[in-house]
Formats: sequence, C-alpha cells, structure tokens
Amino acid sequence: MPQEFMSTLNTGIKNVRNVLRYTIGPGSISELPNILSSRCKSKDSPVIFFIDEFFRSRPNIISRLSMKECDRAIYVPTINEPSTCQVDKIVQQLHKDGLNKPAAIVGMGGGITMDVAKAVANLLTNGGHAEDYQGWDLVNHPAIYKVAIPTLSGTGAEATRTCVMTNKRIGLKLGMNSDFTVYDEIIMDPELTATVPRNQYFYTGMDAFIHCVEALAGSYRNAIGDAYSRETINLCRQVFLDDDMMSPLNRERLMVASYLGGCAIATSYVGLIHPFSAGLSVVLGLHHCIANCIVMRAMQPYYPDAFAEFWSMVKKQGVQIPEGVARNLSDSQYEQLFDSTIIHKKPLINALGDGYRDILTKANVKKIFEIM
Ligand SMILES: [Fe+2]
Repeated sequence: MPQEFMSTLNTGIKNVRNVLRYTIGPGSISELPNILSSRCKSKDSPVIFFIDEFFRSRPNIISRLSMKECDRAIYVPTINEPSTCQVDKIVQQLHKDGLNKPAAIVGMGGGITMDVAKAVANLLTNGGHAEDYQGWDLVNHPAIYKVAIPTLSGTGAEATRTCVMTNKRIGLKLGMNSDFTVYDEIIMDPELTATVPRNQYFYTGMDAFIHCVEALAGSYRNAIGDAYSRETINLCRQVFLDDDMMSPLNRERLMVASYLGGCAIATSYVGLIHPFSAGLSVVLGLHHCIANCIVMRAMQPYYPDAFAEFWSMVKKQGVQIPEGVARNLSDSQYEQLFDSTIIHKKPLINALGDGYRDILTKANVKKIFEIM
C-alpha cells in the first residue's frame, strides 16, 4: 500500500487550479437561477444548457432550471462518447444562430454531457477546431463561464481540467487538458442521482475509486492529491461495501467522492487502467466507466490490493461486469488496441516508469486484453 504521507518534494506538479465555487445538498439545484442571474447582464443574455438527453422526458427537473426565452437547451446523446466532430458541429451551429457569446454555459448530466459543455466553452472563446486543443495546455484564452450539475457520480468531470473526446480521424481519445477547462461552479444535488440504474451507478462510481488507486500507486505524486485520493477511496468503500449503495446518504457520499477524485487527478495522473480502458473505448466503442471495470479483470499483477477490493465490491453489490470482450479479435484490432493504449505516455510512465514500453510489448498488451 502507498505510504501515508508523501512529501511534495517528490511531485512533478506544482501549480493546480480548482473549481472556484460549489454548492452541495439535496435540492441545491434550486440555486441555479441565482447563480446565472449574477452572470446575465440583462434578461436577453443567453445561457446555453447542455443537458443529458435522459432529462428530455423529465419536465419536472427541466422546469427547475428556470430557462429564459433567449436561452438554448442542447440535449446531449449519451449512446456514444463525445467526439471532436460532434463538438465542432455544435460550435458551428451556435455561431450560425448568433449564440457564440453566451453569458454562461451549464453542463447537466454525466461525464459525457459535462465534457461536451467544457469543450464547447473553450472553443467559443478560442476558435478553431476541437482537435487543435487535444493535449496539454493548448487552450490560450479563458472559456465561457460554466456551471456543472452532475447527475451521475464518479467521473470527476465536474472537477477535472480535461474534457475527453474521441478523435475518429486519427483514432485518438484525449482531452483538452487546461486550467481553462475547469468548471467555475458546481451544483452537487444528490437527489439527481436517485434514478440512475444500479449497474451504471456502480460502473461510474468506480471511476472515482480507480482514479485514486492509480494516482496513489503512481510516481507523479502530490501531497494534496494524495489526501484527496485517500478520502475518495474511503468514501467509495463506505458506499460500495454498504447494503444499500444508493441510499440518500450514499448518493451524497459518492457525489463528494466523485468531486474529490476529480481534484485528485487534477494534481496527478492516472495509471495503467485508463490507457487500457481508452483502448477499449476507441477500438470497441465501450463506454469509459464500464471499460475501466472490464480492465480490472486483468489488473491483479499491477494493483493487487485494489483488484481484491474491487471484486469484493462487485460481489457485494451483485453487479455484472462483461467478460471476454477483447478475446479472439483480429490482428488488426489487436494492433489498434496496442496503439490506442500505448499513446498515453504520461499515465503509463506514472504507473510503470520510463521503461514502460519494455513491459508493455505488443505481445504483453495482447495477453492483458485477452484476460479481459
Ligand atoms: Fe476516468
């Protein structure tokens, strides 16, 4: 297990931006109109709402957003993960409709919706195309003021400095890693996660657990990041080893874990699980959080304690993790899986050191995928 306190002398990251403000508690979504009115100069200042399409048929929730006539609601489909193309199309349309300078942007949903909102907020003030900013610190100007309302807990998208998109043209899954990508405000209302299906609640919640397992086992450490990680793991244990992981108290705990887990990876890097998971997403189209859980099937040699704990939580909650998804694939698919895993240099160095390519040979990477 990682040591209890690691000095900041050992970190590679020194300057960290956090979300400016947050509101938490059941019913806190009702704070949104106040937050937005302070950003709008007049009743004609538009706000763009990115909303998970799940809420299209939930007028009781939508009405609580108190949208004005000049505002725009964009319902974000969640069948596929965000793509650079999708983000470019939305930005083009907003320009066409004269909505390229909104007073604020709201992202209400899970990681997909919150990430699309972040990417659009960056592009509206920076110009160009989404793929121009995939990488580290390529965004030059502050984004549109943005507020997150997470309705799924775990990805930490409400707290991180990235917004992950698949670039289908070059087969790459990478975010706009930038201080400007961080949300300005978050509203964490645990009532919004009450209707999440059990399996999805588990897969997404586990993203927070996995972020912090990877961060604490890595070499790019930060004393504050470690503290966030330890508390995130502590909260995940309380939630996922409990009889009712979706009780009101546990939904609030998981919302906090998601936020703290996002803060944790803003001060460090993920490790081995996320690059393999990205491979599954890019090549086989699996969603991020379920892909992480599938990767955990092969992680016993690399994260033995977390492996045991993860599978005890799966058993306790009786959730299903798919098996065999990366077996008996074609040579070209294994080739693509290798390429889209190995490209994540920083997380892999964080996990395995500079010699990561000596460990992750093509043959070894294939073997790891076959275990899944
Ligand atoms: Fe993640």
